Amino acid sequence: MEKKKLTRRTFVKKTSVGAAGFAIAASGISPFFAGMSQNSDKLALLGGNPVRPKGSVLGVKWPVIEDRDLKMYVDAFKNKSWSEHSFREDELGMTFQKQYAEFMGVKYCAVTNAGTNALEAAQRAFDIGPGDEVITQTNTFVATAQSTFNLFALPVLIDSDPETFMINTDLIEEHITPRTRAIIPVHIGGAAANMDKILAIAKRHNLAVIEDTCQAHSAEWRNKKLGTIGDLGCFSFQEFKSLSAGEGGAVIGNDEYLVSRVGGYVNNGRDPMKKGRTFPGGNFRPTSFQAANMLSQLKRHEEQNKIRDKNVAYLEKLLTEVNGVSPTKKYDGQTRRAYYAYQLIYDKEHFSGLPKARFMEALQAEGIPVKNGIDSNLHLDPSIEAYLNLDSFKRIFSKERLDKYRNEIKCPVNENLSQNKGIALYHAVFLGPKKDMDDIIAAILKIQKNASKLL
Ligand SMILES: Cc1ncc(COP(=O)(O)O)c(C=O)c1O
Repeated sequence: MEKKKLTRRTFVKKTSVGAAGFAIAASGISPFFAGMSQNSDKLALLGGNPVRPKGSVLGVKWPVIEDRDLKMYVDAFKNKSWSEHSFREDELGMTFQKQYAEFMGVKYCAVTNAGTNALEAAQRAFDIGPGDEVITQTNTFVATAQSTFNLFALPVLIDSDPETFMINTDLIEEHITPRTRAIIPVHIGGAAANMDKILAIAKRHNLAVIEDTCQAHSAEWRNKKLGTIGDLGCFSFQEFKSLSAGEGGAVIGNDEYLVSRVGGYVNNGRDPMKKGRTFPGGNFRPTSFQAANMLSQLKRHEEQNKIRDKNVAYLEKLLTEVNGVSPTKKYDGQTRRAYYAYQLIYDKEHFSGLPKARFMEALQAEGIPVKNGIDSNLHLDPSIEAYLNLDSFKRIFSKERLDKYRNEIKCPVNENLSQNKGIALYHAVFLGPKKDMDDIIAAILKIQKNASKLL
């Protein structure tokens, strides 16, 4: 449907002093744009003044640290309890586990040193191993697939839904084989995968559901936090994530035995229920410094979520009147999204045919740090062949199975989104003042007006 068109000129008018009466003004757009002279029309890519002054940060510089964070970190250092492996109540990792489980609304949490290892440990809890297959998606960070490959199992990469950029659930069942053990939907960018459909498919085929929630902290499905919908939910607290400890991760769930198996795998097989070294395991433990950082950042996490919610709601209101850039569609069950990468759909038809890559370049030159809206085309990633060509893989999987895997791994929708459609803004962009949202719109409209000059 054609939107009521907001051009740069009407945006200036509507956001100017005296704009009362305009519908958009009633929605509370700040009047910053009034001061922008027509001379600033020249695109930054062509030598004009950028919408954002050079060197200014849209949103905030991530990660946010204050004195209280430093204090927790230094205290952990001074305590000289740097390695935590005893499941003692006073360990910082244990404290985080308790607080994060409470925050997420689940009974159990096992803390890890990375999201990749959280995913591996979660699969180990289901004894997923050599010869098994796991359904996941092409639009994800490579770690999702690596965590399965590292168990000598095959991650089957499903194409994307063109409107939501999430796993296309209509394609899942045709890829299920007798060796399929689990589905790992990835809530990519912070929006929710279609959990109703995924749970129904998993039930029909008796599969585990492990949510890769590494990009979707505090997002919700039917008012329950993502990561709590499937059997286990995995998180990353790597530096760029909206809850960051530099490196770190967690697995959450309500099944005591499953989460104990994860905790055991993380901690050299030690059973968190203190029944001895009864599980398989490695060492995926975080240091106490990481745990201190997790605890400290968790204190401001919801406050930051609320700022992002507010800024994005405002931006979306503005976008309803801009042709050619729209938020991705959300599934009905998504009651809250997160913004690790807030995806938008670009339509070059409204920008004089300007290719997406050039549009992104122009936005970046205007000071808007736009990114590719697709995390990855993992099916094209060279690391896939690196695994398939291992002698160990050839010992486990027949040539026929590996050939079939190669032949079936086709994801044209995701490739098109990546090439032509998807753009994204990173979550820290939404932690600044409301005016920053106006600047995003101003930059889009400026490029729209002058797009033909970039062809
Ligand atoms: C979707 C997804 N899965 C897994 C991971 C892995 O997390 P980590 O970097 O903490 O190992 C990431 C991190 O970027 C991710 O974005």
